[in-house]
Amino acid sequence: MEHLLEIAYLIGSFGFIVGLKMMGQPDSARKGNLVAAFGMAVAVIGTLFLDKNGFHVIGNLGYILAAILLGTVVGTLMAKRVQMTAMPEMVSLFNGMGGLAAALISIIEWQHVETGIALGKFIPIIAGLIIGTVSFVGSMVAWGKLNGKIGDFRFPGQQYINAVVLILIITASVFTFQAADLGGGHESMTQFYITMAIAVVYGLLFVFPIGGADMPVVISLLNSFTGVAAACGGFLYDNNVMLMGGVLVGSAGTILTVVMCKAMNRSLTNVLIGMVGSGGSSSGSTSSGGSVREFQATDVAIMMKYASKVIIVPGYGLAVAQAQHVCHELENMLVAEGVDVKYAIHPVAGRMPGHMNVLLAESNVEYDKLIEMEHINPEFTTTDVVLVVGANDVVNPAAKNDPASPIYGMPILDVDQSKQIVVLKRSMKSGYAGIENDLFFDPKCGMLFGDAKDSLQKLVNELKSV
Ligand code: TAP
Repeated sequence: MEHLLEIAYLIGSFGFIVGLKMMGQPDSARKGNLVAAFGMAVAVIGTLFLDKNGFHVIGNLGYILAAILLGTVVGTLMAKRVQMTAMPEMVSLFNGMGGLAAALISIIEWQHVETGIALGKFIPIIAGLIIGTVSFVGSMVAWGKLNGKIGDFRFPGQQYINAVVLILIITASVFTFQAADLGGGHESMTQFYITMAIAVVYGLLFVFPIGGADMPVVISLLNSFTGVAAACGGFLYDNNVMLMGGVLVGSAGTILTVVMCKAMNRSLTNVLIGMVGSGGSSSGSTSSGGSVREFQATDVAIMMKYASKVIIVPGYGLAVAQAQHVCHELENMLVAEGVDVKYAIHPVAGRMPGHMNVLLAESNVEYDKLIEMEHINPEFTTTDVVLVVGANDVVNPAAKNDPASPIYGMPILDVDQSKQIVVLKRSMKSGYAGIENDLFFDPKCGMLFGDAKDSLQKLVNELKSV
């Protein structure tokens, strides 16, 4: 009986690990989410109804159940209603709530701190407070930036000021510890809240200057902060499942941050203080001196019908246009004509990790047709037609050819190696990086202007008639 709680936590931890592993593959990702949710449910039920001696109902059960019910209703409604393009916003909001929860734990626990607090108890409480607060405030700013309510805010010497604020946080923490050592939590509340207030300032200064379009990387970083803050709670309560969950979130967020930076060939420092993407999307100039060829849907349909191999390159515009279903319909029609069709997936196409995989999985495109960049790149030389659907930066040859370009060095899809390129977008405007794309002026390339969904629908209609 006395081991029931530990068993519940073990099942919970096991669910997190197996679920996370399953989320690494598109075909098992949904189930992985459910497995992790099951693990969390077991851990929560164990916490509510068990303790180290066996069955025991936790205090304030009514409040806790009411909060769980409220969170479930709000979370379910939000998740059901969110548009795919607004997913990073929602992730940021939810992540911020995790940071706030960690900070609240520290605030509550500080009230119970007694005179002569041990460093081993002080560190998890103060770290949970600082990291949780930074994560909460930073995530709220990121959320505001993503939905366009908050713009970029920079001033000279910002990095130095951030460094000073960090030193102030550490200094305030030392004062808090000294005051608590003498008078416990009650006598050190002022120092404690001053530390928190400086952490709020740090959270604001940390995220304000970062370019709006760099937010996915920042959110992933803040996500790892929340994980660390939650792990502090695990230390504090000697709660293994909380510790394990926090560590998993912390390390997964860090790995994701590193992977995203690598895929953009940028250092984290460059993201945090750099300028790329700072103007948001679609703001760049477009004159390259060359001329642009414009295609009509009929030309493109004929080109594809008589091709033996077509590669579709999805990008952010596919998500904006919600064109995934009609894209799959076009793919099926081409396959029925005997054309070999594949999708080229760039690791940072779209605005969040796995964006294109999720989108195409939604329209039931077979997973083995989604080919990662390093495997599809050698295939472009043997491809008749590449259909670029709302992608821009991930096919920009400047990343290979122009050392002055802000995206120079970013690995891209080598679409310029194929025989014909067709680009589906609405205008000549730039993408996320705010720079023009010489691919559009390549003699092998032609533009099919319009909303991606409309253009793909026209191609489907044309294919039926040619
Ligand atoms: P982008 O370079 O952002 O280009 C998207 C293009 O889609 C735009 O040029 C836009 O042109 C077009 N578009 C928008 N709405 C459209 C619609 N309704 N119909 C047709 N076209 C539409 O996209 P990408 O190639 O996918 O590259 C992603 C960028 O985001 C990279 O620079 C990457 O580094 C960055 N980024 C990605 C991530 C992750 S994790 N995925 C995270 C941070 C940053 P028009 O306005 O002319 O239509």
